[in-house]
Amino acid sequence: MNTYKIAVIPGDGTGPEVIAEGVKVLESASRRFGFGLDFTWYDYGGERYLRTGEVLPDGALEELKQYKAIYLGAIGNPKVKPGILEKGILLALRFGLDQYINLRPVILYPGVDTPLKDKGPEDIDFVVVRENTEGLYAGAGGILKKGTLDEVAIQESINTRKGVERCIRFAFDYCRRRNKGKKVTLCGKTNVLTYAFDLWERTFYEVAREYPDITTEYAHVDATCMWMVKNPACFDVIVTDNLFGDIITDLGAMIQGGMGIAAGGNLNPEGVSMFEPIGGSAPKYTGKGVINPLAAICAGQMMLDYLGETEAAKAVEDAVKKTVSHDLKSMSAGKMGHTTSEVGDLVAGYIRG
Ligand code: IPM
Ligand code: MN
Repeated sequence: MNTYKIAVIPGDGTGPEVIAEGVKVLESASRRFGFGLDFTWYDYGGERYLRTGEVLPDGALEELKQYKAIYLGAIGNPKVKPGILEKGILLALRFGLDQYINLRPVILYPGVDTPLKDKGPEDIDFVVVRENTEGLYAGAGGILKKGTLDEVAIQESINTRKGVERCIRFAFDYCRRRNKGKKVTLCGKTNVLTYAFDLWERTFYEVAREYPDITTEYAHVDATCMWMVKNPACFDVIVTDNLFGDIITDLGAMIQGGMGIAAGGNLNPEGVSMFEPIGGSAPKYTGKGVINPLAAICAGQMMLDYLGETEAAKAVEDAVKKTVSHDLKSMSAGKMGHTTSEVGDLVAGYIRG
């Protein structure tokens, strides 16, 4: 029997509640499909930081490298100044483990409401491949003469040929494996960001030559937002930089039914990957048992797929589809018609069959 060692970081806010349901579902899939999951829990997050002053302890990255994957809840705590936990934990993990892809599927399941009028599951089924270690997230720049009238703030976007190329290549490979629309759209801003997206565009068309079976398309980021609302069916795989990917995937989450269902994977195809719901720690719902755990469950499904347990991943996806179409009144926190743990029970129940 295959047993996978998984590091679990429930994190802040509603993170622990949704991760508990995700683990419940993963365990039901492991029992049904005959593989083992060996979870080790880590308390990284805001509470630990407030107690100890430490974000990630020394050696954390090295320790995490021994796992097959990381399962993360949420990072962010209203008692901590914005940026400290995000940079000190979430981005430190993404960068430190060189998880250079942030894979974010935007899929509307039957029975889930979208705010887009006259659009249904046949229109909303695409994947965003977000570069995850560079761009404006790299932290390059600084502040000079802070607090004075002469203050200067510079924040630079770092784009390396290697970083851009590996991301674009992943998008083409993924598109081929996905085998749906066979189209990759580069989302950029070549009309204004004429250095960064010049590199992206040149690399995109160079790599594309190796994939003659795949159609290419380019869209500016503003137009991408427009098309995601007006005609989302035109997308199959979108590849983009870190910040644009961050922004368009929040829009993507909304059209697929909300943060309650949107999941993502921070992938290092040669190393350790990390799976998380893309919504935040939702402080106002914390501890109430009303948050939707499906995003965390779907992140778990992506993790199973990534581990090669494709049948189990498929079973989780089917169980989620049944739950949203038969049982849930809404995807929104407090409006599901069920508690957080009841939703986990429903999905786990469908997996048991
Ligand atoms: C996300 C989040 C993070 C990001 C924040 C919390 C740093 O918004 O995962 O999309 O900007 O990447
Ligand atoms: Mn985001």
